[in-house]
Amino acid sequence: MASHADEPNRRDFIVIAGNAFAAVGAAVTMWPFIHQMNPDKSAQALASTEVDLAPVKTGQAITVMWRSKPVFVRNRTAEEVKAAADTPVKDLPDNVSRNANQPPNAPATDANRTIKGKENWLVAVGICTHLGCIPKGQALGDEKGEYKGWFCPCHGSHYDTSGRIRKGPAPRNFDIPPYAFVSDTKIKIG
Ligand code: FES
Repeated sequence: MASHADEPNRRDFIVIAGNAFAAVGAAVTMWPFIHQMNPDKSAQALASTEVDLAPVKTGQAITVMWRSKPVFVRNRTAEEVKAAADTPVKDLPDNVSRNANQPPNAPATDANRTIKGKENWLVAVGICTHLGCIPKGQALGDEKGEYKGWFCPCHGSHYDTSGRIRKGPAPRNFDIPPYAFVSDTKIKIG
């Protein structure tokens, strides 16, 4: 069981945006420590983490750590889902889904970047594909860019509500990590 002495370190690794309260599983908070103590490649390959989505209300987002990377989890509004779904793939600078759960050449439709029946959830590695900055857009008051998804202030890359690059120097969409729903309100990443 975690002690109070653990709390400051936990906050270093988990960012809760908006009014979403910390409800990510213990595996989420523990992984960075495990990772630091055990850098063995085979252990890294097995790493997975479960995330409780129940506290993340519509329009809110949380950031969790998975294999030392920030993963953005956004509970998208109906408008955000529609904007993403209505965007023709031909309008996208990167027209490949970049989804570890899809074939490598799957087109970058919103459907191919989400899970059927759970389209409100966008789960993506939150690292700009240009030079690796962490884009803004997770907190409710953040600048989200011209496409209302995420904005990378380092060199001005704009991502849409599906985490797809739309404008700026970033060459690729956010990566979608391998993940699945293990219950109606919980996902397992990795
Ligand atoms: Fe994001 Fe350059 S690192 S735009």
